[in-house]
Order: sequence, then C-alpha cells, then structure tokens
Amino acid sequence: MSAIAPFRVMELLGRAKTLEGEGRSIVHMEIGEPDFLTPRPVCEAGIRALEKGDLFYTSALGSAELRAAIARYYATRYRVDVAPGRIVITSGSSGALLLAMGVIVDPGAEVLVSDPGYPANRHFVRLLNGEPVGVPVGPDSDYQLTPELVETYWSERTVAAVVATPSNPTGTVIAPEALARMAAIAADRGGALIVDEIYHGLVYEGETKTAAIDPELFVIGSFSKYFNMTGWRLGWMIAPERYIGDIEKLAQNVYLSAPAPAQRAALAAFEPETIAILDGRREEFRARRDYLVPALRKLGFDIPQMPQGAFYVYAGCARLTDDSFRFTHELLERAGVAITPGIDFGSHRASEHVRFAYTNPVERLREGVERIGEFLRVSRGSP
Ligand SMILES: Cc1ncc(COP(=O)(O)O)c(C=O)c1O
Repeated sequence: MSAIAPFRVMELLGRAKTLEGEGRSIVHMEIGEPDFLTPRPVCEAGIRALEKGDLFYTSALGSAELRAAIARYYATRYRVDVAPGRIVITSGSSGALLLAMGVIVDPGAEVLVSDPGYPANRHFVRLLNGEPVGVPVGPDSDYQLTPELVETYWSERTVAAVVATPSNPTGTVIAPEALARMAAIAADRGGALIVDEIYHGLVYEGETKTAAIDPELFVIGSFSKYFNMTGWRLGWMIAPERYIGDIEKLAQNVYLSAPAPAQRAALAAFEPETIAILDGRREEFRARRDYLVPALRKLGFDIPQMPQGAFYVYAGCARLTDDSFRFTHELLERAGVAITPGIDFGSHRASEHVRFAYTNPVERLREGVERIGEFLRVSRGSP
C-alpha cells in the first residue's frame, strides 16, 4: 500500500469545499469530469429500468443488449467490426483497466506507462505486485509513448504498455500509424498493448480512429467522459478473444457485474438524439479550449502544442514558480482557483507542471484566468 499514492487533487478539492463552506468563491479547474448533466434520454431509460425493477446481477461480462449496442456503435462511428463476445462491460473504465492488468500482470512483470500519465495505471500494476515503468515523455513526443520509446524501454520482464489517446493529463492524441507500430512491437515480444480511449468523442481535430481495428489489442472505453455519465460507473473493454474466459472469471470475483440500472440506461446513450446532445457539448468544450489555451499562454504558462482532445491543458509553469505543488495550494488559498499539481501524474518534471480542466463554462474560466493574473501580479510585486 505504501507504493500507492492518493490523488493529491482530492486534498485540494477537499480544501476548496471547506473554503466554499466558509463563503469563499472558488473557480474549479481541477475536476476531471464534465460539468454537463447526464443527457435526458439516458436518465429516462434509467428511470424506466428502475420502475420495471428487475435489477438483478447481469452476466459478469455485461448485459447482452449493451454488448451488442456497443458493437453497433463501433460499426457506425468507426466502421469497425467488433464481435459482441469480445466486449466486456465494467464498472467504469477503471474496472476495465484493473481487469486487463489482472489477466496480464504476474508478480515482477513490468508494464510501461507514460510519465506524466493517468496515475491509477501504475497503482493497478503495483497492486498486482508488478513493476510499473514510468517512461519520461515531453513535448517532443506530444507527451506520449512512441514506438521508439516502447522499443527502448521494453525489457525481458515487460508484459505490456499502456497508452491513453487522448491522454489525461495532456489531451494529446497518438497517430494511428504510431499506435500500429507500438502494437507490432508489443506483439513481436509476446506482450500486450492497452489503449485507453476513454476520451474518444472529445477530439477537436480530424477524424478519430479506434485501436479496436486490431483484434489483438485491449481497448478501453467509458460512459464517463463523452457520455457525461461519471457517477453511473460504467465502462467497457474490448479484449483479445483468448482472454475473455479469464476476464470473466476475474470480473465474477472482483465485482460480480457492473451496475444493472446503469447498463439499462446506457442503452439510450447511443440513440441519435443523445449523440446529437453530446456532439453539441463537444463543441462547447472546443470553445472553452480555444479560449483557455491562449489566455494561459499570455499569463506565462508554457503550452507547446494545442491539446487535440479531452478537457485538459497540461501547462508548464517553470517561468512562474519552481514548485507547482506549492503554487496550486497558494493559488487556491489566495486567489480561489483550484487546479491540479503535476505530481498527480508522475514524477518527470512534475514540479514544473500543472493541469487545468476546462469543465466549466467560458465565463467561469475567464474569471479563473483573471484571478490567476491578479495573483501573479501581486506575487511578483508589480502594480
Ligand atoms: C485516462 C483515464 N482512464 C480511465 C479513467 C477512469 O474513468 P472511469 O472509471 O470513470 O471510466 C480516467 C478518469 O479520469 C482517465 O482519465
């Protein structure tokens, strides 16, 4: 347990809530979930399920209807055929990541993860007594693993590499060709590639391709982000056929089944009416990004590339502070703005980075930017 770190941002969120309780106004740019309510058609499907009441455990792999609906979604959105039998419904994509690692990682096995990257991955590996190997990444590789890095860091003990595209905390996307090369390297060495596509649907440039085109990859999806359903705790995984039996066994033991009401409600998530609502919200996220990135650059944050997706900006703050952790705490106390310190995402140059989440309307982001500007002016002692 000592190797498993808490999300530091939760401390900040707790402190922000305390300050709010004391009457302070806080601009929340730390929260990694959409501010939009779950779309109405999904709630209505959930209500119908509750009224009907037959909310028993489903199969550990998920309800047959939802697995089929997800397969249809891949066919329409990406024109990729995925057999419903390879789709596993999980409790959030967190459940999917844990199950995927569970069937891959033996004690002592190494798993490559990017640093910075989503912190739970390295903790899942630790929980299984594996060794997460944080690969330092920066602007030169869009803060992502590359085929070259995977090749360099892959050792005899490595069993998998994990990538997220778009990523948390950087919002950057991996080109399909690079992903295919990473998949080939992993396959060549008898290992696995886990591709976390939780932020799919929230990509602002170009057409999005799914890694599910390759039946040998573990592809992770979620209802949390694009579908605005974080609290319903529902996600999925597309796994190579030969792992499904082990995944089923593990899911039965770990949580029996994903929540049945959420699985019913989620059937409405793919209706054209819902998708139209969600695509409209994506445009709102794009407008927020387009406001926030130049505004932060003007304040002195370094953002080498425009993030292509998710709702995060991973910003260099070396010109403003030498300790991003202290900076986030001071910013909260003195300016009433909550952001996430780099330390939550790894150790590589963490003290030089912070993460902004644009999970607030533009007016609120503008208020946050003004407060940060004022905070910087006062701390520099300029008028
Ligand atoms: C990259 C990434 N993967 C997975 C998750 C887990 O999300 P959930 O369990 O809600 O699907 C998150 C949550 O923030 C994330 O950022």
